[in-house]
Formats: sequence, structure tokens, C-alpha cells
Amino acid sequence: MSKELEDFKSKCDIAKVVSHYVSLEKVGSNYRGLCPFHEEKTPSFYVNVDKGFFHCFGCGASGDVIEFVKRIENISFVEAVQKVAELCGVEPPLMSKDTFYLKYVSLMELIASNYAKVLFSVRGDEALKYLIKVRGLSKDEIKKFSLGYAPINSDVVRKSAKELKIDENTLIKNGLLIRTKSGRLIEFFRNRVIFPVKNSSGRIIAFGGRSMGDDEPKYLNSSENKYFSKSKVLYLFNKKKVRDAGFAIICEGYMDAIAFHKNGFENACALLGTGLTKNHVDMLKSVTNNFLFVLDSDKAGVNAMKRASKILATEEINVKVLLFDDAKDPDEFFSKHSKDDFIRVLKNATDYWEFYVQRSLGEIGDPVKAILRLKSSISWVTSTVLRRQLISKAARILMIDEKDVMYELQNSVKESKKKKKTLNRVEDIKMNLDDYIVYLLFYSEDMRERIKKHLDDVSVISPFAKKAMDIVNSGVTQAQEALKMMSREDGERFFQIFTKGIPDSNIERVYKLCISKLEERKLKHRIEKVEREMVSTSDHELKAKLIKEAMELRSLLKKKGGASRG
Ligand code: GTP
Ligand code: MN
Repeated sequence: MSKELEDFKSKCDIAKVVSHYVSLEKVGSNYRGLCPFHEEKTPSFYVNVDKGFFHCFGCGASGDVIEFVKRIENISFVEAVQKVAELCGVEPPLMSKDTFYLKYVSLMELIASNYAKVLFSVRGDEALKYLIKVRGLSKDEIKKFSLGYAPINSDVVRKSAKELKIDENTLIKNGLLIRTKSGRLIEFFRNRVIFPVKNSSGRIIAFGGRSMGDDEPKYLNSSENKYFSKSKVLYLFNKKKVRDAGFAIICEGYMDAIAFHKNGFENACALLGTGLTKNHVDMLKSVTNNFLFVLDSDKAGVNAMKRASKILATEEINVKVLLFDDAKDPDEFFSKHSKDDFIRVLKNATDYWEFYVQRSLGEIGDPVKAILRLKSSISWVTSTVLRRQLISKAARILMIDEKDVMYELQNSVKESKKKKKTLNRVEDIKMNLDDYIVYLLFYSEDMRERIKKHLDDVSVISPFAKKAMDIVNSGVTQAQEALKMMSREDGERFFQIFTKGIPDSNIERVYKLCISKLEERKLKHRIEKVEREMVSTSDHELKAKLIKEAMELRSLLKKKGGASRG
């Protein structure tokens, strides 16, 4: 990295930049917040100001301030530098004007034409056969899509670069040449059919390469650089054709897009193995508001489509989804069917949000469970209009009243709010029986021994209290030490209990309350056990005995005053 850039970065406050997007709290010398790069409820995203980097322990996202902005805004490196400069009020480094672009695209175009030449030469014999016989393309189609072939010991990139007087270092920097472990330089694409990828100005900026046999990975894409980012490019995207058709078809693979074009649907384009991004949507929206996603019918395709919801929710667009029932993807569909067949199945396309609700509900055998699944899938929806729409769709699918769906949803919303509060605010927590037990276990040696006498049956206490009990039994009786032995979630609860504490003057009262409640729980456990046996036995004598026992236990419980409360 240049000195200029290092200087610039040292002047920028990463915490200031990150807080523009993420709400951060200070923990020690670091900052912590909810990771913006994956979904989470407890923060595992940290920002280190001294060293100027961020790191998420949840998803592994990591990098410096420029990387952060680049990722969160989905922009190029150069754009990210500008943005960071703005946010920090620091002069951006002088980045020389981009004279390399034209050289880069000329090189890529020369490489593409050389790959095409190889395909139609003796060296490309097998690849040509693959495209014609296996993939069903004609020679004209192969030429139309400028397909090529990178041979086994390819020298195509180096020869092309030589012609344009571009040095090897530039090729290495852009991932076109790679150094093997033994130090030899080899070309990135070897023994692969090549699909040139163009940017929106129609210039070739990258390649996709497909192996012909079982070589893994099946597809390789050029490494990303200043001019090529998968999140910003759509394969075979043709603005004019999309505008003329009045809608865009978006599919998953290179061969799928080609299959559409071959059959006259030149308004189709493909994602390059990434999910849909805001950039993709913006590109498409510049020409149409009507999107049709034609998905692979595997789980990955459906999930990728579900993930696009947050991007699609904020846009005023009509989105439809089509899944074939007799083909795994468009390429396979057109190998079996005609253009007219496609027009016919087009009528089966589902509204995106209908699809979203259907897939979120999943199996609708148990509507409450289905709503629970929906709940987590729509928790991010802030628009009340969209929320209402989704609920009404769910009600229709489940064939129950909208009010009932709403009721189920509401219940858990309250719960999750409550949960959040206890997590975030130390002073707000409400201690329950198990929390008191934990507190008493660490209060004093005398108290520990007294409460332990009542903890003979650990099945009546929470897993959290049980964990505390295990720690105490292992000989660790200092709260600070115990904290280190707990999971993150338990640790937080533990910390809060001790922050809140119980006044010393109340300890005896709390202790008494705890043991009485504990005894009640044990009694209830016994009653449950007896009643279970009672129901399952067919032995009349035993049954009578159990009924009597249950009745006695119940009256004991009543005396203790715990019949109606938990
Ligand atoms: P064919 O088998 O050639 O028909 O491919 P496909 O388009 O049916 O492939 P698939 O559905 O498996 O993947 C869809 C798209 O994801 C491809 O066109 C690629 O852009 C991308 N992709 C698939 N496999 C890989 C891979 O192994 N690595 C990378 N980087 N991308 C892949
Ligand atoms: Mn395919």
C-alpha cells in the first residue's frame, strides 16, 4: 500500500466512519455493535480504533476503514476512499487519474479474441465439441456470444499482453497470472471454456471459465479488481432489449442467460454466482420496473431469492418469480421445450412477496409453528404497508383469520422486545428464581452450603443455574473466575445479576423465598410424574394408588400456596 494511502488512513477515525452505519458501544478500548454483514441479535462486531480495523467474530468479516465502506456501500475501492474522506472531513489522497482503464479493457478484449481463436483451432477441438454436442450450441451461437477456450498450458494471456506491451506484474496484480507454490507462473484459466463478461459500456472486463469434465470448481470467475466486481455486473445484460421487452429476466448461470438469448429472450441476464445486490437492482431499474426471476429449482436458488427480500422491499418494482417443475434451470428447460412453451409457463410466475411468504411459512401443517417461522422472516420489515400485505397473504395461505396471524405475531414481538431490554440494560433486569439461586451460590461459603442442600434435584433448575452449580462444584467460587467459564450468553446474564445484586439486608428473606419456591417446583415435578404414570398405566390397582398419591401431593402443594402460581 502506498505511503500516501497509509497517511490518509491514519488520519481517518474508523469508529466515526463505522458509527455512521452501525450503532456502537464502547467496551474497553474497543467498540462493539451488531454486525452489518450478517444477521445477529447479540453483537460480535468489534472496531479497534488504535489499529484501525474492524472484525466480526460471527461471520469473520474483517478489514480496514476503506474495506468497511467498500463492503457496506458496495462500491469500488476508489469510491470508498472518497467516501471515507467525506465522512472524516479529511482530504483524500491524490489518486492519479485512471489512464489504465483503456489499456485494461483492450487487453481483456484481445485475450477474449485469442481465446476464441484457440477454440476454433486444433487445440480447441475438444472444447468445441463440448459446446456443440454437450451444450447444444451452434457455431454461429458460439461466435455470437464470443465464447472461447483457454487451453491446458495456456499462454494466451502472456502473448496478448506482450502484444500490448503490458508487463507480467500487471497481469499478476489482476489475477490473470498466478504463481504456483514452486514459483512457476501459470495462467489463471486453463482448460476451460471461456465466457467473456462485459460491463455496462459493453467493454470486456472479466471472464467466466467452465471446466468441461468434473474438474472443481465448475466455474471460475476472474478475480475482482477496480473494473470488475461480481456484485455490479449482470452477464448479457442488454439495456435496449430489456426496455423493448418491458421486463427483465434474471437467472443464475451463464448458460441459462445464453439459453434465453438463443430462444429470442434477449432481455435476460445472469448473476455471476452471487446474490442479488442493490447495484444489480439499480442497473435494472434504470430501464424497467418489471423483474422476473427465473430460478434454479434447488434450495440454493430459492434461498438466494429469499435473501434478496431486503433489497427488493425498498424498491418500487414489480417482481415475479418463476420456478420450472420439470427442469432444474432455464438451460435445461430450453433443451426440452420451445420458446412458446416458455411463454405458456410464464403465466405460472408468482408474485415475489407471495413466494416469500409461502417459503417462509414452510410446512403449514402446524399453523402456529408456520407463523413462528414467518415471524423470524419478517422481523426486519419496518414498513407497515408491506407488513400488512405479508400478513394477509399468510392468512390466506393458512386459511385462518388475519387477526389470528397478527395475534401470534404480536405475542412474540413483545417477547423479543422484553428480551432485548434485559440484554441491554443492566439496571432493568428482573431476576427470577434461578437468578437468585445463582446469586446465592456465590454470595458466601455459608450461604452456598445452605442453598446446595436444596439443590439435590437439578432437573428443577434452569440450565443456566445448573451451569453455575457445576462451576461451584468444581471448586470455583469467585464470581470473576466463574465468568470466564461461562458461555457468552450465560456470562452476560451472570454479569447482570451481580451488577444488580441483592442488598445484604435482604439475603435471608431471599434465601427463604428461594427454598420455598424450590420445594414447590420439586413437588410439581413429582405431581407431573405421578400423573403421567397414572394416565399411561392400565393396571387398575396401580392407577388407584397413583390417583391417591397425586391428590395428596396436590393438597400439600396447596398448603404451600403454590397451586395457582409458578
Ligand atoms: P452448467 O452446469 O454449466 O449448466 O452451470 P449452471 O449455470 O447450471 O451452474 P449452477 O446452477 O451450478 O451455477 C449457477 C452460476 O453460479 C454459474 O453460472 C456460475 O456463475 C456460478 N457458479 C457455479 N459453480 C460455481 C463455482 O464452482 N465457482 C464459482 N465461483 N461460481 C460458480
Ligand atoms: Mn445449468
